[in-house]
Amino acid sequence: MASRAHGPRGNSYGTRWPSSYVIKRVVGSEGHGYSVRKSRHVEGKPNSTRTASLSSPNGDYGSPNIEVPHQRIECINLCIPPVRSRLRELHLPLLLSESMSTHIPTIADSKCILVTGATSGIGRAMALGLKDLPGKPQVIATGRRQGRLDELAGKGLEAIELDVQKSPQELKGDLNAIVARYPDLDTIILNAGVQHQFDFTEPASIDFIKIVEELNINYTSVVATIVALMPHFHRLAAQGRDCFFIGISSGLSMVPAAWVPNYSASKAAIHSFLMALRAQLVDSRIHVVEIMPPLVESELHDPYGTTEALSKSWMPLEEFTKLTIEGLLKGDDDVPVGMSAGVFQKFEAGKSQMAVHLMKNHKAGKSY
Ligand SMILES: NC(=O)c1ccc[n+]([C@@H]2O[C@H](COP(=O)([O-])OP(=O)(O)OC[C@H]3O[C@@H](n4cnc5c(N)ncnc54)[C@H](OP(=O)(O)O)[C@@H]3O)[C@@H](O)[C@H]2O)c1
Repeated sequence: MASRAHGPRGNSYGTRWPSSYVIKRVVGSEGHGYSVRKSRHVEGKPNSTRTASLSSPNGDYGSPNIEVPHQRIECINLCIPPVRSRLRELHLPLLLSESMSTHIPTIADSKCILVTGATSGIGRAMALGLKDLPGKPQVIATGRRQGRLDELAGKGLEAIELDVQKSPQELKGDLNAIVARYPDLDTIILNAGVQHQFDFTEPASIDFIKIVEELNINYTSVVATIVALMPHFHRLAAQGRDCFFIGISSGLSMVPAAWVPNYSASKAAIHSFLMALRAQLVDSRIHVVEIMPPLVESELHDPYGTTEALSKSWMPLEEFTKLTIEGLLKGDDDVPVGMSAGVFQKFEAGKSQMAVHLMKNHKAGKSY
């Protein structure tokens, strides 16, 4: 059971909080996890260190309480991001060891990355940026516009036509064919998206075909893609490979923009779904990451002829791509960028850990 929270001023042993933590990946016969070594700096004395854990024994990071036993506990099968965000919440300094025996799984480990909606904007920039990661992953750019796919093929990407707005069965068939051709596929960036404006004060103007299409591309097709790829990712994970589902929501998943109400709702849906999926997969090597862009330079808003106005306030694509790839390489579960970071801190921090907590309680038959 988790004990009471210890604030940054002291712990149950009457000592000051240490000045740093070193988090180390531990691989044992039962699985992998992380140990936390704390170093205490006392003036005039050599640094004292001891190994501790920042989890309760059942690995429950979602609890508002946190237990800091003084003996070493290997946190079997826990992901590091919850540890790190918990440390941040408690305002504890964190030092990631340079000399970790093994590294935190991130997109840097990916061998083959598929990007949906890679023919323009964020997807295109991410696909091109990820190709140049030090590990030189194979990157598969997908989308509907063949001319643009051809152009990407000329830049060293694999390029495949993939329309995500199909029935789940057809989508599964297309994805199975891709997996057969690229058996190393271990990462997917679920980026394809559309955005429509709707004015509900003018009900006659509401086009339900567009409502359904927007929800399908931004949400349902993402769920269908995940379902289709899950067996493949489970197979890779069983071989000791880390796999990544990386969704793209939006700052609008947290606070809706009233002129794009259905878009905002579709992004809120994917945001919630990704948290739930992460909680289901928390003990596995399948990682769920969410990118939350701010307003970014792209073609998303073009049909409304607002590009000129928007271009005064959006984040340049190059800057967004750089910050996002840096965020992914840190190994965080959530990558809120630009203005989305402030909104995330205000409304969402700790929510994902709470979802893990609820899931663990649900599995244990406990009340929420
Ligand atoms: N730009 C922003 O301000 C912003 C902010 C927050 C979140 N986002 C999100 O970021 C993602 C990328 O958007 P973006 O801004 O880069 O927009 P974009 O430039 O319009 O790119 C959208 C991409 O989605 C693809 N797409 C659309 N419908 C598709 C379908 N049925 N099947 C397959 N691909 C389809 C398009 O390719 P084809 O037409 O070739 O199929 C295109 O490559 C979206 O999920 C968007 O919601 C963007």
